[in-house]
Amino acid sequence: MNGLDRFGPLLEAWSGEHVVVRYDAPTGAWIFIAIHSSRRGVPTGGTRYRVYARPDDGLEDALKLAAAMTRKWAVVEMPRGGGKAVIAAPPDLERAARDGLLLRYGEIVDSMRGSFYTGPDLGTTSVDMDLLRRRTGYVSGHSKALGGAGDSAPFTALGIFFGMRACAEHAFGADKLAGLSVVVQGVGSVGVQLIELLKRASAIVVATDADREKLAQVEATGVEIVEPDAVYDQECDIFAPCAIGGVLDAATIARLRCRVVAGAANNPLAGPDDAKRLADRGILYAPDFVINAGGAIALVGMEHMSLSRMQVEDRLRGIGATLRSIFARAKAESITPEEAANRLAAENLAKPLEGREG
Ligand code: PHE
Repeated sequence: MNGLDRFGPLLEAWSGEHVVVRYDAPTGAWIFIAIHSSRRGVPTGGTRYRVYARPDDGLEDALKLAAAMTRKWAVVEMPRGGGKAVIAAPPDLERAARDGLLLRYGEIVDSMRGSFYTGPDLGTTSVDMDLLRRRTGYVSGHSKALGGAGDSAPFTALGIFFGMRACAEHAFGADKLAGLSVVVQGVGSVGVQLIELLKRASAIVVATDADREKLAQVEATGVEIVEPDAVYDQECDIFAPCAIGGVLDAATIARLRCRVVAGAANNPLAGPDDAKRLADRGILYAPDFVINAGGAIALVGMEHMSLSRMQVEDRLRGIGATLRSIFARAKAESITPEEAANRLAAENLAKPLEGREG
């Protein structure tokens, strides 16, 4: 089968270390484990399970996501490196076949002998992490029953929530979400948790998702819904991309009717010019790898740095503080918040490694 003809060009253009690739013959899935940087510690990142049009789309996603993990660990100053796994699965794999695929994937992670640590991401849950743990110990985010921290989604959502408050302060002058309208794109594990937090804070929530069934469940809880295609035209205060990446490009940014973009999705900007496009339209953008770091902070913090829940919550609140300083830096240096966050990540990456926690 073809579909990996961009393999060479993608790797040539990538700044990372290496990629472990496996074709899973029983299912026809491709597995990509992208190791971007081990400079600050063991490369650690979630496992994404998704159907792609072509296998090299999965590889491209893995490469970009792994690079984002390097920046994420650096901005939150956790002693980890960037890595990410993508399982590019065939559509409609039934349960037993999917489990088999995950178990074989777990064997590959185990064979890497601790040079890559993983956890949940889009398309995988704590239940899947429990399954992986039957084959390898290099997994975080497994259930509490098995000694893990459980799903990362509630922590990611809480970090987004604190981050949104910092955005609200910057854009609207008050550090609160009450009365603000928030459009949540994607009601996966993070999206639903975020919606709950927003409702409790008296924000006005509008949601969408390509998955009708999931959307109906959210609608049943009293949340207003919009068609997936109409989401960019929806007038609101905050647009929160919480699904796949690459959704904001020249065309969609031109349609946005919000003042802030702040959400959970990794790599929501399609290309390098999109941060500037948002800024030119007067839209405040919370860099994804800063605002969505809550899951990463919680899993590694609780499972590997013995942080308490309270300490983790303090660090999640710190996402708001980090964003405030990024917005201030962007203003002072006349750059986009994305560029300010990139500079912060690069500075932290360049610091000598001695004397760090962990
Ligand atoms: N997948 C989530 C992220 O991209 C959370 C996570 C981070 C899971 C690190 C495991 C390890 O941030």
